[in-house]
Amino acid sequence: MEYVQEILHLGGVSVPALAERFGTPLYVYEAASIRKQVANVRDAFAALPFRPFYAMKANSNLALLRLIREHGFGCDAVSPGEIHLALRAGFAPESIWFTCSNTSFEDFRAVPDPRIVINLNSVSEIDKIVELGLPNPVALRVNPDVGAGHHADVITAGESVKFGIDLAELETARMLLEDAGSSIVGLHAHIGSGVDSLAPLLASAECLLELIDDFPELRWLNFGGGIATPYRPGDAEFPIAEYGAALARIAGPRLRERNLTAILEPGRYVVAASGVLIARVTTKRVSAGVDWAGVDAGFNDLVRPSKYDAYHHIVNATRGETGALRETYDASLHREEIVVAGNLCESGDVFTRANHRVVTRAIEPLRVGDLVAFCDAGAYGFSMASHYNARLLPAEVLVDGGEARIIRERQGLDDLFRGME
Ligand SMILES: Cc1ncc(COP(=O)(O)O)c(C=O)c1O
Repeated sequence: MEYVQEILHLGGVSVPALAERFGTPLYVYEAASIRKQVANVRDAFAALPFRPFYAMKANSNLALLRLIREHGFGCDAVSPGEIHLALRAGFAPESIWFTCSNTSFEDFRAVPDPRIVINLNSVSEIDKIVELGLPNPVALRVNPDVGAGHHADVITAGESVKFGIDLAELETARMLLEDAGSSIVGLHAHIGSGVDSLAPLLASAECLLELIDDFPELRWLNFGGGIATPYRPGDAEFPIAEYGAALARIAGPRLRERNLTAILEPGRYVVAASGVLIARVTTKRVSAGVDWAGVDAGFNDLVRPSKYDAYHHIVNATRGETGALRETYDASLHREEIVVAGNLCESGDVFTRANHRVVTRAIEPLRVGDLVAFCDAGAYGFSMASHYNARLLPAEVLVDGGEARIIRERQGLDDLFRGME
């Protein structure tokens, strides 16, 4: 991402040209950014017996899945739909883990291949797969009693969460599966998303390592995802190399001794920085002395600000400069305090929020007709998009080698009507 003569370019392609060609709102991903992130993951954990996985819930576009698969990643899928997308993207069945979450008989029956690892989240799910007699290898998702994340709703371990088999129940889980002849090939813990410090990740890893003696058929220890990425100017990069070194220190010898392979399954870390949501400023207003800009996207396109008060850096893509970008932010530039709101019929449809409230943001001056870019929107952006207000899902474009290509068509009215009389 860079400015060339005041115009934002993504992967060498001008944003106004992309908007002209593909319309707005529009998700644009830079392939080079994804390649850089997957290389960081591979390098950081190279000292371990290691297989990187990608948590595809972050972004399950087939083109991105293929790109990530080509770099040797396996795939964490959380629904039959995600499993089918992973297979369509070319992931080998044995490289796919189906991580369950209150999974139904129908969802278990829909697992299309006996080599897919079923990662069980509860004794109740174990009862189901035993009843169905599923031949798949299984893993157990453990609650390691330590959780972390950028928001309470994305902390997935510790107290009051719906995930993971309690340590006290693990023995029951093991016996049920062994009695049924199932092979427990993996143990898994994922403590949350947007975890920005090493301590909870390592505490969770230690917990998994303490359990391995009770599981003679183990092949994998899956330490989950959750690695944070920067969103605000000044946010530090996650110390991924330090994470790799620390994990190699605490886990390396035990893994080698037992001939186990470590898995990490980041989602956000791989794709967040690659993606930008482009929208056009449609209106300006002043209300009670506060400036507002309206854009032609809403929380149906990017829900993270409304749902989590998440910060997405906003820049003027039509007229801006390097000092506007998150990575090279220059606080001394001229900016205006403004609220940026979407086009949905709901007061919560505001992209500039903090502490459950609408706030202004200092942004380079915006005019009606300008394009804005919501940065770092590659993870949990399109994958959480909806049809709210009967808005159509936006198009997605991948920029690679200076070329832009459509990787998901913008929806049309037929998509809205489908399945209804
Ligand atoms: C089981 C599991 N693995 C991995 C992830 C990916 O998390 P992140 O995108 O923060 O890496 C999630 C997301 O919540 C998850 O539930």
